[in-house]
Amino acid sequence: MNIKKIIREVLENYNLFGGGITPLQLGFKLKKKLGFKELRKIGEGTSGVAFSIGDGKVLKITTDKTEYTEAMKLKGRKNNHIADVYGVYALTGEYKDIVIIISEHLKTNPVKIDKLEDSLYNIFNNLFKNKYGYLNELIFGYQLKSKSRALIEQIKKELFPHLEGEVKVYAEHFFNMIEELRNLNVTSADFGPMNLGYKKNGNLAYLDFGFGIEDESENFANTLII
Ligand SMILES: Nc1ncnc2c1ncn2[C@@H]1O[C@H](COP(=O)(O)OP(=O)(O)O)[C@@H](O)[C@H]1O
Ligand SMILES: [Mg+2]
Repeated sequence: MNIKKIIREVLENYNLFGGGITPLQLGFKLKKKLGFKELRKIGEGTSGVAFSIGDGKVLKITTDKTEYTEAMKLKGRKNNHIADVYGVYALTGEYKDIVIIISEHLKTNPVKIDKLEDSLYNIFNNLFKNKYGYLNELIFGYQLKSKSRALIEQIKKELFPHLEGEVKVYAEHFFNMIEELRNLNVTSADFGPMNLGYKKNGNLAYLDFGFGIEDESENFANTLII
């Protein structure tokens, strides 16, 4: 079995974006165009592929255009609990269905985050699901938007006395995170452990801007020709 041949075949057939180009091939074009130090695949999700490009940055290539809209709201800001966003572009021409985002490279730890998230959800749901509903439903993007700030504050006031240790710290970061997203009008809210990571200062932070509820725009101001 020739491993190189297998890899080549997988890459050639793995054509997530249509238009006869693989995410890796597109990544190399972008590396050349934008001068990235490296190109190392670090993950993939339902609609995109992420590469480390060096200098503590990540390139996300995606077909989910709502990510463009969401990431634009964050571009150039210093966020406490969201990956900082340095660049957002809609590609043009033959790659026009593709959007790229350059963001802060967070330290991921899905196993640990999964445990903490599970603990928080269990504690919350056991105590409050009859009163406030399930936590995951409560915080889901557009539903969260429709909740009043006073309600969220009330929930926090009732919840926090029941928390301690790592779960309490996690919950503090988590609630600050959803507050920050909400203040910036980012409705993307898939808080699974694969979409969260840690900043250098240890802050929990959100990294996936997909599934935003805004209508996807076809008029992208920030375009890139490659
Ligand atoms: N800024 C980032 N820092 C660290 N890892 C990232 C970053 N962006 C993406 N990743 C990794 O790539 C994976 C897929 O990226 P994500 O944005 O969640 O794609 P999708 O929208 O397809 O779910 C993530 O689960 C994560 O492991
Ligand atoms: Mg994801």
